[in-house]
Amino acid sequence: MGALSILSGVLALLPIICSLAVLIGLDVGRDSSSPPLFNPEKPKGPDGKPLDNGIKHKSYCDETIGISPPAKGDHYTLNPNPWNWEEGDEGSLCLNVTTFNNQTYPTDSSAPEFSVTWQYPPGPPSSPVHAYPNVKVDSGVFPNQIKNIDEMMLDFEWTYAVGNLTVETTDEKALNASNVNANVALDLFLDQDKKKAQISEDASTEIMVWFAAFGPATQPIGRDDGSLDEQELDGTKFTLYSGKNGVGQFVLTWYCEDPAPKFHGDLQPLVDRLVEMGDTNFPTESDYIGYMAVGTETYFSDDYVTFHVPQLAIDVHLKD
Ligand SMILES: *[C@@H]1O[C@H](CO)[C@@H](O)[C@H](O)[C@H]1NC(C)=O
Ligand SMILES: *[C@@H]1O[C@H](CO)[C@@H](O)[C@H](O)[C@H]1NC(C)=O
Ligand SMILES: *[C@@H]1O[C@H](CO)[C@@H](O)[C@H](O)[C@H]1NC(C)=O
Ligand SMILES: *[C@@H]1O[C@H](CO)[C@@H](O)[C@H](O)[C@H]1NC(C)=O
Repeated sequence: MGALSILSGVLALLPIICSLAVLIGLDVGRDSSSPPLFNPEKPKGPDGKPLDNGIKHKSYCDETIGISPPAKGDHYTLNPNPWNWEEGDEGSLCLNVTTFNNQTYPTDSSAPEFSVTWQYPPGPPSSPVHAYPNVKVDSGVFPNQIKNIDEMMLDFEWTYAVGNLTVETTDEKALNASNVNANVALDLFLDQDKKKAQISEDASTEIMVWFAAFGPATQPIGRDDGSLDEQELDGTKFTLYSGKNGVGQFVLTWYCEDPAPKFHGDLQPLVDRLVEMGDTNFPTESDYIGYMAVGTETYFSDDYVTFHVPQLAIDVHLKD
């Protein structure tokens, strides 16, 4: 028994010794100035020099601008996007973005961390949203037809806070006390036409997935007409509403009754369900998804508030 186990110990060691010998043998032929064999390759900049691990914070206020940080993995474009606010109007918004000099984020599909600090007074009820600061998927997977998409994995964690600082957890009572009206929403634009699907103003259809709605003014289009369906994903219940927006686009909203500050799951079932329902104006499997973004629609608030996205990764897989 004892002898046997010693023997099997020796046998188990043999392959290790052999592979060590191979390693040592390999190294003999290398002169001392060669770089070490098994160091992971450091990311290099356009000039061929290795990039350092520095972290940069940049702030972009009250402007529409595409910020596309270079990345080794999937690309994203951030935008403060105060589309319904003009210079001289009350209120303001700043988008802060944290980028890594090494262009290497936690996973291949991670977006840079960002936050948005804003305050606006109430707008007209016909057009209550001032801005949609967001991060848009720029990985080249869109435009693509619904029938080609296998899954849309979303890894999303966010907080909302009264004041100019980020917090660990959202305090809904504090938001209510400051009369905060805002949502947290993912936005998809679709069209039968590949080009139109990529332009938010030109697309025929918008699918929204809401992860929170704060304040009584923050209502999905068609809420008064009643819900059309319900789906549960990653423990979050989404209710479907639909209707036309001010510019005649058909908007389908998967609305969540309770905030979902952490969501880790596949969103494709929400799109497939709409195709399956097959109502008039609903998307069909040959429609193109041309645009996907995640952000917050800012209605109004008495005080400055800060939306923080410490973690976001969107990984869209196509069918073979
Ligand atoms: C890139 O930089 C960030 C920030 O300093 C660091 O956390 C990360 O580990 C670095 N990644 C690599 C592969 O060097
Ligand atoms: C909060 O942030 C806004 C927008 O960046 C800025 O205008 C305001 O002065 C800040 N307030 C404080 C108390 O720092
Ligand atoms: C955003 O950036 C500005 C300017 O650097 C800074 O004063 C502010 O504290 C930042 N906000 C957050 C929430 O990090
Ligand atoms: C929100 O605040 C209003 C008063 O501004 C109050 O009537 C209401 O009960 C509050 N709701 C919650 C959920 O705290």
